[in-house]
Amino acid sequence: MKKVIILGASDGLGKAIASLCKSEKIEVINVSRTACDISGVINIACDLSTEKDIDNTINLIKEKHSDFDAIINCAAIVAMEKINKITYSKFEKAFKINTIAPLYFLSSLFDNIVKNEADILNIGTTADLKAGFNDQLAYTSTKYGLRGGSYNLGLELAKTKSRMIYVHCGGMNTQMHEKDYGKKIEDPTEWMNPSDVASIVLYLLRLPKQVEITEITISRKGRRLV
Ligand SMILES: NC(=O)c1ccc[n+]([C@@H]2O[C@H](COP(=O)([O-])OP(=O)(O)OC[C@H]3O[C@@H](n4cnc5c(N)ncnc54)[C@H](OP(=O)(O)O)[C@@H]3O)[C@@H](O)[C@H]2O)c1
Repeated sequence: MKKVIILGASDGLGKAIASLCKSEKIEVINVSRTACDISGVINIACDLSTEKDIDNTINLIKEKHSDFDAIINCAAIVAMEKINKITYSKFEKAFKINTIAPLYFLSSLFDNIVKNEADILNIGTTADLKAGFNDQLAYTSTKYGLRGGSYNLGLELAKTKSRMIYVHCGGMNTQMHEKDYGKKIEDPTEWMNPSDVASIVLYLLRLPKQVEITEITISRKGRRLV
């Protein structure tokens, strides 16, 4: 693997994956609003809630970075809100960033993905297996949507050399909740370190091409779903 595109590598898990890639001499193209401050990462400024920004980014990738080996989607907002307070615009924003943007992005680059025999890895949540917390109506719905779309992409890729990997990811110690909600939703001391999840992500992408892990759950100890 020589070149990866990461949606959302300016922070959190995406940044941890970018850091690991750079330490292993893998080129990283980051797509997010703010730049990833890791030396050597190529940044494309893009607001994933904006169609024009996404189209410009897709064109730039086709023009200058079409030789990618994987696309990893980490970008999301948690959009926490009390069930009886959620606004239409908050719902819409969450669906744009968490569901429509990555699925549209991947479908627009579908021909390049197939040509490159590149892999796709979408980061979901354990909440798209079973609702996990209150106040996550929008978040849970968007990630179920991402999961559904990922199955379709996987089906379209079934007869190609490309793989679609979907990760149900559990709680990680990042700033995601504070940025959106002002606080963590519970004590994060036992939440996973994003760098540990990043190592698993790279492991999955490096499995021999005849091995396909279509879906995997990585959760913190003690949060078994069954
Ligand atoms: N943290 C957890 O406990 C947890 C649990 C389960 C699943 N996950 C999933 O893991 C993934 C990574 O989460 P994280 O905790 O690493 O989150 P994070 O630290 O908040 O990082 C989110 C990334 O998404 C990007 N992003 C957000 N809004 C964007 C927009 N409008 N346009 C472009 N990029 C945007 C951010 O970049 P900019 O702000 O620079 O645009 C940032 O790089 C997400 O898919 C999340 O749903 C997280």
